[in-house]
Amino acid sequence: MIALYIHLPWCVRKCPYCDFNSHTLQGALPEDDYLAALLADLDVALPQIPGRTLTSIFIGGGTPSLFSADGIGALLTGIRARAPLIDDIEITLEANPGTLDAGAEKLAAWRAAGINRLSLGIQSFCDAHLASLGRIHDRDAALQAASDAARHFGRVNLDVMYGLPNQTLAEALLDVETALVFSPEHLSCYQLTLEANTRFAAHPPPLPEADICADMNDAIAARLAAAGFAHYETSAFARPGCACRHNLNYWRFGDYLGLGAGAHSKISRCSETGEWQLVREARWRHPGAYLRAVAAGNAVHTARIIPARELPFEFLMNALRLTEGFTPSSYEQRTKLPFAALLPRLQSAAKAGLLHVQTDRVAPTSLGRNFLNRLLVDFLD
Ligand SMILES: C[S@@+](CC[C@H](N)C(=O)[O-])C[C@H]1O[C@@H](n2cnc3c(N)ncnc32)[C@H](O)[C@@H]1O
Ligand code: SF4
Repeated sequence: MIALYIHLPWCVRKCPYCDFNSHTLQGALPEDDYLAALLADLDVALPQIPGRTLTSIFIGGGTPSLFSADGIGALLTGIRARAPLIDDIEITLEANPGTLDAGAEKLAAWRAAGINRLSLGIQSFCDAHLASLGRIHDRDAALQAASDAARHFGRVNLDVMYGLPNQTLAEALLDVETALVFSPEHLSCYQLTLEANTRFAAHPPPLPEADICADMNDAIAARLAAAGFAHYETSAFARPGCACRHNLNYWRFGDYLGLGAGAHSKISRCSETGEWQLVREARWRHPGAYLRAVAAGNAVHTARIIPARELPFEFLMNALRLTEGFTPSSYEQRTKLPFAALLPRLQSAAKAGLLHVQTDRVAPTSLGRNFLNRLLVDFLD
């Protein structure tokens, strides 16, 4: 089993907080060339994952909703023609409210093309905060998009951010309350982070104090728990049975193939000498460089076999984001390392109140979830 991530790297405009591999679109979108490159990239990658079935597809960005439904449909048809897919495969598309049309025809057409889960980048329903984030959409467009998405898709995620410039606790809660009006099955609530090499990092906006952000985090979690959502990952909340399967695979340290500019893959395999190894690959980041690399027959820019000493941290950095944590057998299956060797460090984190360590499961305590970086540092090689 393997998940497929597809990166579409263009946006109408770069948001000042964003450090994703996204580029302001200059001129016309090279849709046909890029989609053809993705399938050519897949053709070259497939022999690396022989006989493996796709369990989820996530089309992320950037702003994938800049692409036409016909283009997305052709991409999915091309994937189905090349690789086996599980029957009830989850296929998510990320959409920006500022790129949707008034009649929501794009949404209907994406649904008809095979997208069965929509993830909307709402961020906030407040005009002042959307403006401070440099978003291309306003409150009305956010409300319209959330309502149209609910009408066309059974499975909807809304991305909301909190800890925004000059935001109060009441305003952060109001955004979540407004999101709930649309009955999404999933909410991702991210605290705004100042990422290196962004405009916000160079010119920091007036953010709420850390303690206020912590209160926002707690208040949002309490409100969503009351609404029936499980807080199943650091920033993710879902109704029962509605967790994002694609993202769960990352957090459970499963394998994934990433296609498109700057996309990353994690693939476990047997080497020619029969040794198990875990390889991480990154494709060329810049869209132009990616297109040239695909034309030359190899989109991969860097590839690295992860040494065994780095695997405990790599695994825990993902698995401890999950409220459920992990089982000793899943650790051994995903890393091929003995759980017993990890146990002393787990037990010392348990003594510090950061972890629950039981014979059949290891999970972060609520203190551990709030201080996850602190917890993880002890597992760095
Ligand atoms: C790759 S973005 C894609 C969504 C889409 N491009 C959009 O912005 O509408 C995924 C989500 O990450 C969150 N995000 C991006 N940068 C962030 C930051 N610096 N701090 C917190 N959340 C961030 C936003 O909620 C965003 O919707
Ligand atoms: S629209 Fe999304 S991906 Fe694009 S710059 Fe803004 S946050 Fe980043």
